[in-house]
Amino acid sequence: MHLAARRSQLRLFLAGCLAVALIALAAPALAPASSTIVNPEGTASVPWQVFLEADNGDGTYDMCGGTVRDATHVVTAAHCLYDESGARYAPHQLTVEAGVVDLAHPESTTQARGVSAARAFPGYDAAAAWGDAAVLTLDQPLDLSDPSVVDALPLVDVGDTTTTQAVISGWGTSTEGGNSPDQLAYAFVDVYDSSACSNYGAAFDPQVMLCAGRDLGSGRIVDSCQGDSGGPLARSDDAGNADALIGIVSWGNGCAKPGFPGIYTNVADPAIHAFLSA
Ligand code: ARG
Repeated sequence: MHLAARRSQLRLFLAGCLAVALIALAAPALAPASSTIVNPEGTASVPWQVFLEADNGDGTYDMCGGTVRDATHVVTAAHCLYDESGARYAPHQLTVEAGVVDLAHPESTTQARGVSAARAFPGYDAAAAWGDAAVLTLDQPLDLSDPSVVDALPLVDVGDTTTTQAVISGWGTSTEGGNSPDQLAYAFVDVYDSSACSNYGAAFDPQVMLCAGRDLGSGRIVDSCQGDSGGPLARSDDAGNADALIGIVSWGNGCAKPGFPGIYTNVADPAIHAFLSA
């Protein structure tokens, strides 16, 4: 699926990220993160991407991304189902928007849906951000006849670890704890060998996690960041033609820090794959 480029414009948006990344890290000191999809390629319509909003009931919202699995299901991160205090959101507190690029001025293609059920991977360990996968059931089917909302991103095959390039996308914050852009950003990343995440020590479990990012040189590193969680890591060619969901934005030490790539839930893990398919 091609990513149609659109104009780039940043505006203010709501809330922050669920603080799983901070909780999960045992090792090195956490430094403030820099940007959203740090060093994005641009903004775009990403027709498999959804926006996931969680209503805290006090005028604040948490945000995540997600991927259209089929007309009534969305794949996201398990940690997106919990608020900052660790309390589980009720399904009615969750809203999904598909076919949207500009959150401040939602396009006419935008399809908003409620959530009737939210399942977290049974093995999910919040403290370790381990098994960070979830499936939402929508209260009404998405209209997939509109090309701006597609279910064209099947789960990668079990055990398929051959992907070397992927595209990430999201509305994550532009500074940690700060504001996030209205426009959906995307960027290409390299799927690294596990050794590239060795600085995370035992917190990085290569069975259920993928390590990905891109070093553009001159200190410019591409990464996902707070608010991008739950969104897709999609196997892709250079033009943004993606054909499989290989990962879910999960956690990292800050964002775009040298030696600490982003960590994604590994969809090719047999147990996670079976859970996401069900
Ligand atoms: N935990 C963050 C969220 O809920 C995602 C962090 C991803 N971090 C990274 N460096 N890739 O949005």
